This record gives sequence, structure tokens and C-alpha cells, in this order.
Amino acid sequence: MAEAPADLDMDRTASRSSEALLTVRGLRKTFGGVEAVAGVDMSIRAGETVGLVGPNGAGKTTLFNCICGQVRPGSGTIVFDGVPLDRMPVYRRARLGIGRTYQRIELFPELSVRDHLLVAERARSGHGRLWKDLLNRARPQPDELSRVEAALQLVGLSDLADTSVAALGLGTCRVVELARALVAEPRLLLADEPSSGLDVHETRQLADILRTVQRRRGMAVLLVEHDLAMVERVADRAIAMDLGQVIAEGPLKTVMAEGRVRHAYLGTDR
Ligand SMILES: Nc1ncnc2c1ncn2[C@@H]1O[C@H](COP(=O)(O)OP(=O)(O)O)[C@@H](O)[C@H]1O
Ligand SMILES: [Mg+2]
Repeated sequence: MAEAPADLDMDRTASRSSEALLTVRGLRKTFGGVEAVAGVDMSIRAGETVGLVGPNGAGKTTLFNCICGQVRPGSGTIVFDGVPLDRMPVYRRARLGIGRTYQRIELFPELSVRDHLLVAERARSGHGRLWKDLLNRARPQPDELSRVEAALQLVGLSDLADTSVAALGLGTCRVVELARALVAEPRLLLADEPSSGLDVHETRQLADILRTVQRRRGMAVLLVEHDLAMVERVADRAIAMDLGQVIAEGPLKTVMAEGRVRHAYLGTDR
């Protein structure tokens, strides 16, 4: 559990009683003249899976980047488990329990599946050994190995642990990307279009894996996903965004039936 300064105790209590793990209030981020995130309010409870839907350019990835700390919002607040994130750097947010997967997958073809997870774990835990890894001078520590093996097992990749990523199909690479985020045992996982580029069968498999992971780890998941069948399979509820704002939230079917949501989707070429 993260330590908060004493003057934050009231915020922490308020957060607990409403059971919100993540609370976003009045969040804004502008790039040049574009309001990518234009006043977002939302909250996620511990352990729930929320589908974040909306057309391309709605601001979903920018919202993720603000939550993870890769992008600094122009205004607004983000509170995670009672701790205001303000200007907290990315690695400290990761230690608090915020993990993510990326829309564009970035794996190193020559590295084995296990090594991908080990490198991620080292970068996160900040043991300062990353430069040694690059020089092949540091051996994995037992605690690092056990976290990595647990993540591999959880997603069903144990048998492929020694395989280099170059030998894997995109569907399996997406699972590696998911496992990489799980090594840190996040309490909130932000998954950015994990099924992007997958066929129907692979998407279904990934949805099943995500559901298993969510159930076993009990973490909260915010899932950006264009495949509505996948959202339906894994999410407890949905939030729709368009033009940087939340335009509807509730059960997925209700959200997708709302006029503003239908208009947002039909207004694109998708
Ligand atoms: N780094 C950036 N620089 C300039 N504009 C950006 C940047 N990131 C996102 N945008 C713009 O912000 C808007 C929202 O983008 P994004 O958050 O990627 O939406 P989504 O993930 O919903 O497709 C888009 O108009 C996009 O072009
Ligand atoms: Mg995006």
C-alpha cells in the first residue's frame, strides 16, 4: 500500500468509502489547437472491468497517457487509491499499481518471451540494474523470476517462455504484451486496443485470457477496444468518449444504443 502524507488522509478515506480506485475529475489536455481530452470525469472501482469505447481520435489513448504519467494534463485531477497523482513520474505510478499495455505493440524479435518480461520487471522495479542487463552482467533475482513465471503461467505462456518473439504470431505477441504488464501485479490495468490486428478467433482467445487474469488477480481493468464483442465478453460496464469527452456510460448495450454514441460512430469512416 502506498504511503500518503498525513494531510491526504481525508481524501483516502473518502476514496475508500466510495470504493473508487481511480477518480478522474475535470481532466483536460490540449495538443496545439486540438482538445484531445476536454473535461473528463470518470471513476473506476477496485476489481471492475470497464470498456472504454469511442471512435478514433476520441481521446482514449491520451486519457491513458495522462493516467500513466506519459502525458501531463493541462488541468484536472487524477486520484489513485486516495493518492493524487499530480506530477508523479511514470515509474512511481507503476509502483503504486497502475499498469498498461500499448496500442502499437513494441517487442524485440530476438528476445525470448521470458526475457521480455524480465526486462520489463527490472525497468519497473528500478533496481538500477538495467544498464548491467544491457551488458549481460546481471543475473535475474529469484523474486524477479518468480513474478515472471507467475505472469507467464497466468496467461498460459509457460511452454513458450524460451521461444524468441520473432517465432510467434501476432495473437501470441499480444498475450506477451499483456503478460509484460502483469509482472508488476497492477491493481489497475489500462489495456489499449489489445485485440488490434487479431482475427475473430484470436480476439476471443485474448478476451478469455483477460477474463481469467481479471478473475484470478482481482484487478481493475480499463479496456479500450473497438471489438464490441470483446467488450461485451469482459467488461462489467462501458464508458463512451467522443471529441475528448465522456458522452455516455452504463451497460454496453445501453451505451451503444444512445443517440450521441451512434452519431459519434456514424460520423467517422469506420
Ligand atoms: N502527441 C500528440 N500530438 C498532437 N496531437 C495528438 C497527440 N496525441 C493525440 N493527439 C490528437 O488528440 C486527439 C485524440 O487522440 P487519441 O487520444 O489518440 O484518440 P483515440 O485513442 O481515442 O483514438 C486526436 O485528434 C489526435 O490527433
Ligand atoms: Mg488510441
